[in-house]
Amino acid sequence: MTLSIVRNAPLKSLNTFGVAANAATLITLEHEAQLPELRPALAAEPAPFVLGGGSNVLFTADVPGTILRVRLRGVRIVSDDARGVIVEAAAGEDWDGLVRWSLAQHCYGLENLALIPGTVGAAPIQNIGAYGVELSDVFDSLDAIDLGSGKTATLSAADCAFGYRDSIFKRPGPNRLVLRVRLRLSRTAPARLSHGEIGQALHAAGVDNPTPADVADAVRQVRMSKLPDPARLGNAGSFFKNPIVSAAHAGQLLAEYPGAPNYPAVLAGVAARKLSAAWLIEACGWKGVREGDAGVDARHALVLVNYGQATGAQLIGLATRIRASVHQRFNIRLEAEAVLLPTPEGWGP
Ligand code: EPU
Repeated sequence: MTLSIVRNAPLKSLNTFGVAANAATLITLEHEAQLPELRPALAAEPAPFVLGGGSNVLFTADVPGTILRVRLRGVRIVSDDARGVIVEAAAGEDWDGLVRWSLAQHCYGLENLALIPGTVGAAPIQNIGAYGVELSDVFDSLDAIDLGSGKTATLSAADCAFGYRDSIFKRPGPNRLVLRVRLRLSRTAPARLSHGEIGQALHAAGVDNPTPADVADAVRQVRMSKLPDPARLGNAGSFFKNPIVSAAHAGQLLAEYPGAPNYPAVLAGVAARKLSAAWLIEACGWKGVREGDAGVDARHALVLVNYGQATGAQLIGLATRIRASVHQRFNIRLEAEAVLLPTPEGWGP
């Protein structure tokens, strides 16, 4: 099958925000056998935007360049011994599908990351994380092709330089396309309950010695109770990152608002505090606010939602006003967690 290349392609069904926009060119990679065709197809633009499940992107306007949609499939167990089980999944696999598959195979470690929308290939880009676990905790390695040179290389966790919602893929450098990811799972992983909410949900359900399946169920239940389902209400999960501020800055805030959630973090190698963007946004009065079809979710202030016909411009307009009011009140500049494409003025790094 030849590579699919569509000009002036509609993107509405390819992003969970459900925003209407067009891409000048949309290339869909279905099989690795199509890779030899890919580089010539990208000759005019060797740095396409790579799209997985479209669950962490806001199309702020039409995209003048090329979008490369990755739909490579396949999951397998590579090795299974005393050191653990190495599971390999192709970049286009659905992340939650992999979580379910691994549990069914009695391979544990992904429970806390259940129900995160998106694809396997997108997971290392922003080092997905939830409920006390990040991808980097279970990551083994990945294979990526350099779209410039055409060479494929294997990257270790150290090579990927994972951070909070961050990795080497977000920084300037070679144009790498993730082809497959390998995870180190376990036959015996103990339940990871460091995030109190999951322990509380299990306790409330009367589960004393939770199995990994119990943890995954609790995570699903907690997520469903507080995060809107993108299949019903357009959204891209957390729109902003939780800001990391100096200990002194956090101290000032906490003196005034002792109840503000805050967690240990590191900023430029120095002990700092991570604050809750949702709390800051809610404190500025934005929770549940609706402007036309663009809004701030009524249950979780970190999630912007599209009630139907909101445009990318309307959503980024709302985000800009939220950011300005958080900055004015707390002197904290929120950064987008979702990818903004094209990057609007004032939202660059
Ligand atoms: N909070 C508020 N107002 C709200 C929502 C939350 O004050 O409207 C407070 C909560 O009471 C809590 C704190 O904010 O004290 C943190 O809330 P939550 O546990 O929901 O987590 P979060 O920091 O807002 C992060 C991730 C989520 C992940 C959860 C659970 C980021 C940007 N987001 O959210 O990831 O599911 O932790 O681990 O780090 C995503 O990336 O799309 C995403 C949903």
